[in-house]
Amino acid sequence: MENLLEIQNVCLTYHSPASETEALKELNLSIKEGEFISIVGPSGCGKTTILSLIAGILKPTSGNIFIRGEKIEKPGFHTGYMFQRDNLFEWLNIWKNVTLGLNFKKRNNEENKSYAKELIEKYGLGEFIRHYPTELSGGMRQRVALIRTLCLKPDLLLLDEPFSALDYQTRLNVQDDVSLVIKKEKKTAILVTHDISEAIAMSSKIIVLTPRPATIKSIITLDFDPKLTPFERRKEKSFNTYFNKVWEELV
Ligand SMILES: Nc1ncnc2c1ncn2[C@@H]1O[C@H](COP(=O)(O)OP(=O)(O)O)[C@@H](O)[C@H]1O
Ligand SMILES: [Mg+2]
Repeated sequence: MENLLEIQNVCLTYHSPASETEALKELNLSIKEGEFISIVGPSGCGKTTILSLIAGILKPTSGNIFIRGEKIEKPGFHTGYMFQRDNLFEWLNIWKNVTLGLNFKKRNNEENKSYAKELIEKYGLGEFIRHYPTELSGGMRQRVALIRTLCLKPDLLLLDEPFSALDYQTRLNVQDDVSLVIKKEKKTAILVTHDISEAIAMSSKIIVLTPRPATIKSIITLDFDPKLTPFERRKEKSFNTYFNKVWEELV
């Protein structure tokens, strides 16, 4: 199968009047349709930089990035971003928050609006559609943020430590939620996280990066029964084996 994402020899150096920071060096990575990849690596190694490049927010200093064969040079409709903070607007109700991106990107047609409505219903937020974000739990807010991203129908979801602001209990629930939604909607995703357990619980493959300038140190393929939820994976014997493997790569 053709790769959904191709990163070829990508280097990125940040320039400022005072200094130069080499963030990425000769990065090569390809991702197939339907994969769920996690990226782990030391703080400041260049993980967010990779997502910004894939989103077209940054341009590589050298090298190329392709999504479905199209060269990425500016932000476009291929990718959807989800951040650590849910970035919901407190003064807009859930419906307005969800459809904000549709309005903003001038894709506010009936088909897209009914897809947004469907996602809201399907993922248990139907009765909150006229409520405001402050009336929702942290987990529900993240679900709203995910639905807002999904209703733009991106080919690839970019998740930048989206659960790290949540308390532990909520985080486990939201990981199950988000994983289910992504599976059901047949999305391809890249999750950046510093939480090894989260990476093992959620993904099909873990990319371990070196300290800055980031390049790939190793790739660990995870083999779990596809029926298991992230929470159920945590109870598997192999979970600890994987944990130690990733840990050893990071130190
Ligand atoms: N806009 C910027 N200008 C200059 N340096 C930056 C900028 N953004 C990030 N950096 C630097 O690049 C490196 C990688 O940053 P980042 O990709 O945010 O790391 P991570 O997400 O892995 O913590 C860090 O050393 C950071 O300080
Ligand atoms: Mg980051």
